[in-house]
Amino acid sequence: MLPPEKPKRRPRYRGTHPRRFEEKYKELHPDKYPETIQKVVESGKTPAGTHRPVCVEEILEILAPQPGEVAVDCTLGYGGHAVRLLPRLMPGGRLIGLDVDPLELPRTETRLRGMGFPPESLIVRRSNFAGLPRLLPEIGLSGVDIVLADLGCSSMQLDNPARGFSFKLDGPLDLRMNPNRGQPASALLAKVDEERLIGILRENADEPQAERIARSIIEARSRTPIATTTALTRVVRDAMAPSPKGTRQQDDESASIRRVFQALRIEVNEEFDALETFLRFLPSCLNPGARVAILTFHSGEDRRVKKLFQVGVRERVYSAVARDVILASPDEIRSNPRSSSAKLRWAVR
Ligand SMILES: C[S@@+](CC[C@H](N)C(=O)[O-])C[C@H]1O[C@@H](n2cnc3c(N)ncnc32)[C@H](O)[C@@H]1O
Repeated sequence: MLPPEKPKRRPRYRGTHPRRFEEKYKELHPDKYPETIQKVVESGKTPAGTHRPVCVEEILEILAPQPGEVAVDCTLGYGGHAVRLLPRLMPGGRLIGLDVDPLELPRTETRLRGMGFPPESLIVRRSNFAGLPRLLPEIGLSGVDIVLADLGCSSMQLDNPARGFSFKLDGPLDLRMNPNRGQPASALLAKVDEERLIGILRENADEPQAERIARSIIEARSRTPIATTTALTRVVRDAMAPSPKGTRQQDDESASIRRVFQALRIEVNEEFDALETFLRFLPSCLNPGARVAILTFHSGEDRRVKKLFQVGVRERVYSAVARDVILASPDEIRSNPRSSSAKLRWAVR
């Protein structure tokens, strides 16, 4: 006979300040421990397993949601922007929430559905926003009044070591927002040639040390496959001249590591292709007078948004677009450092 199963215990952690993602059980259960969440937010951090929405007030002002309107949140994430839009669309309005992430999307949908909005007011689809023009007719719509896209990855993706988004956490070098599609970054690094890798680092992240880092990656992988975040971080460090702790050089080193991860993430998720397709076909998804807000987190994204919005004005598909980029306020940057690189642009059909 099999021995009786032992009851499952929550993970143990050392001391009162858990550091590892899976040990932060209070932060991972915000409904049960709201006071812990409050404390973490007040300390300027993002609780594990959540995401703090960026530029919310600025976005609400631009999008000016009205009762009865239809909005698309192209990057639902944790639903941080969605929960602020939804009440303003009531009564009678609808929010369509899209995201490519099959792991986080069901959690977000459950949380949003538990907030008491009428069931028909929220439609959630696991979909790439590049497919918006195809999706709208499928849900019986010819156009929408509001579109929001908050690009990049969520804090939940970044903070979960199993997904390999962060160089600060040891995990498999994956970096896919949808782990069921495409190839992980480790597979890309196993076969990419040096010229292509230099291009990826330059085009996707403006990495000034692209050649040196690419060389080092190619050399390192001929000895052992680069399968983990830690292994990649070590290879990038080795590519740079040794730098004493706390120096400017060391800051440059960390910035390069961050850019290498960013470049690979953009590549494995084909983020620029998705953004360009989305921007090109976006006007056909908009009702007259519709408002669009797009939040980007690095220059490669912002350049594309700026350019395609300008093309839209010239071709008269937009009646107005942002002349200047909008940044997060100093207060927001202080309380949520992840907002420091945010750039917001808008357009009106
Ligand atoms: C910055 S987060 C959005 C956070 C969200 N605004 C909130 O307040 O919780 C970006 C999200 O976009 C998703 N994403 C990235 N590229 C996408 C694409 N092409 N189509 C759909 N979702 C995408 C990611 O999986 C991630 O969940």
